[in-house]
Amino acid sequence: MIMAFFRVLVLSSLVSLASGFGMVGVNYGQLGNDLPPPAESVRLVRTKLNAWHIKIYDANPGILAALNGTGLRVTIMVPNGVIDAISKDQSFADRWVRSNVRPFYPGTMIRHVLVGNEVISSTGKATWLNLVPAMYRMRRALVRNSMWKVMVGTTLSMDMLSSSYPPSSGSFRPDIVEPVMAPMLRFLRQTKSFLFLDVYPYFAWAADPTHIHLDYALFASDNITVVDPGTGLVYRNLFDQMVDAVIFASAKLGYPDVRIYIAETGWPNSGDYNQIGANINNAATYNRNAIKKFNAHPPIGTPARPGLSLPSFIFALYNENQKPGPGTERHFGLLYPDGSSIYDVDLSGKTSQSDYAKKPPPKPEPHKGKKIWCVAAKTREVDRAALEAALSYACSQGEGTCDAIQPGNPCFEGQPLAQIASYAFSSYWAKFSGVGATCRFDGVATQTTKDPSYGRCEFPSVTL
Ligand SMILES: *[C@@H]1O[C@H](CO)[C@@H](O)[C@H](O)[C@H]1NC(C)=O
Ligand SMILES: *[C@@H]1O[C@H](CO)[C@@H](O)[C@H](O)[C@H]1NC(C)=O
Repeated sequence: MIMAFFRVLVLSSLVSLASGFGMVGVNYGQLGNDLPPPAESVRLVRTKLNAWHIKIYDANPGILAALNGTGLRVTIMVPNGVIDAISKDQSFADRWVRSNVRPFYPGTMIRHVLVGNEVISSTGKATWLNLVPAMYRMRRALVRNSMWKVMVGTTLSMDMLSSSYPPSSGSFRPDIVEPVMAPMLRFLRQTKSFLFLDVYPYFAWAADPTHIHLDYALFASDNITVVDPGTGLVYRNLFDQMVDAVIFASAKLGYPDVRIYIAETGWPNSGDYNQIGANINNAATYNRNAIKKFNAHPPIGTPARPGLSLPSFIFALYNENQKPGPGTERHFGLLYPDGSSIYDVDLSGKTSQSDYAKKPPPKPEPHKGKKIWCVAAKTREVDRAALEAALSYACSQGEGTCDAIQPGNPCFEGQPLAQIASYAFSSYWAKFSGVGATCRFDGVATQTTKDPSYGRCEFPSVTL
C-alpha cells in the first residue's frame, strides 16, 4: 500500500517535470517611463510569457503586492547603496527584511534575496569587501524571521574573470579571489545557495564577430565546435563556454560543484544603427534556443558539468527607454511597453521551434531601411546648459558638421536652441556614425524616424 502510494507520487512528479515544468523566469526591469503598472505586468508575465519565476531589481512593494497569490517564484534585490550598512549592522539587515520581505511572505513566493547587482563591476573596493559579510547578515536576518527557505546570493558579470578562454583557463580576477570569491563560494555552499551569473554571449560575440561565428553565439548550429585544448571538451555554443569558465574558476578554489543560476541572459532586438546583430530575428533565435536548453528534461548542462540544471532569468520583460548607454541597452525586451510581443516566446518551453514557425512572423523592425535622425530629446526637462554643451561638442568635430546653422545659412534664422542642437546632432551622427559615433550626447539626444527638416533646412539622416 505504502509502496503503491509512493510510486504514484514519483510518477506524477515525473510527469509534471516531463510536461515542461519551467525553469525559466524573466527579469522585470523598470527603467522606462512608459511601462504598464505592476498588476498588468504580472499578468503579462504569467499569461503571455508563461514564466515560473520573476526577478526585480529592488523590493518594490507595489510589485510584491501584485505578485501575492500568483504562484510565481520571486527574486528580489537589495540595492548596492545599502550593502555597507548591512555588512556592519545586523539590526539594519533585520529591519530591511522586516520592512521589505516579511510583509509579503509567504503569499508572495520570495525565493531569493540578491545582495546587490554586479557589485564587483559597479562599486568601489570598499563595498565589494563588505559584500560577503552583508550576505551573511542578510541570511541571518531571514532565518531569524523564519524564512529559511529564502536563499541569499548576489549577481556577478563576466568581468569578474581575468581569464575565460579557453574555459579551462577560467580564473577569477586576482584582486577578488581571496577577499571576495573564496568566502562567497564558502557562503553559497554552506547555505545551499547559487552563484548568480549575468551571461551575455551577445556582448562577447559583438566584440569579435569576425572570429566568433554568429550561429555559435545563437545556439544555432551543432557543428560549429570549439575544442578546449586543456581538457579536450567540445563546445557547441558560446554560452556553455562562458559558464564553464566560471565553473573552472570556482573549481580552482575548491568548489567544482557550485550551483549556478543564470541571473540574466538575452539578446537585443534592436540598437543604434551601427550595432551589428541586434535585431528581432537574432533575439528570437537566441532566446528561444536558450529557453529550450534551460527547460530540457533531463537537464543538458554544459561540457564541464553535463546534466547540470540551469535555472535562468531572461533579460528582460520590456524594452526600457530610460536605460543609459548604447541603443542595445534599451532593446533587450520580450515585450514592447504597450504589452505586445516583439516576437513570440514561451518561457515554459512548451512551444517547439516548429510551433513558432507556424505563428505569424514578428512585426518588421520599425526602423528597417528607414531614414533616422538624431534630435534633442523632449522626454526630459530641457537642461539648457547640457544642450549647449552637446551642441558645442558636435560642432567642434569639424568637417562642416555645423555649417548650415551658421549665420546666413538655411538652418540659422531665428530658431530655438533645441532646433539648432537637433540639426547639429543629426549632422554629427550622419557624418561620424560610421566610425562609432552614437546618438546619445549624455542623454540629451534621441533617435527619431520623423523628419525634422523644415523650409530650406534639410537635416542629414542615417539609414537604418
Ligand atoms: C495575500 O493574499 C492573501 C490571500 O488573499 C491575503 O490573506 C493576504 O493578506 C495578502 N497579503 C498581502 C501582503 O497583501
Ligand atoms: C552543419 O551540418 C548540417 C547538416 O549536417 C549542414 O547542412 C550544414 O551545412 C552544417 N553547417 C556548418 C556551418 O558546417
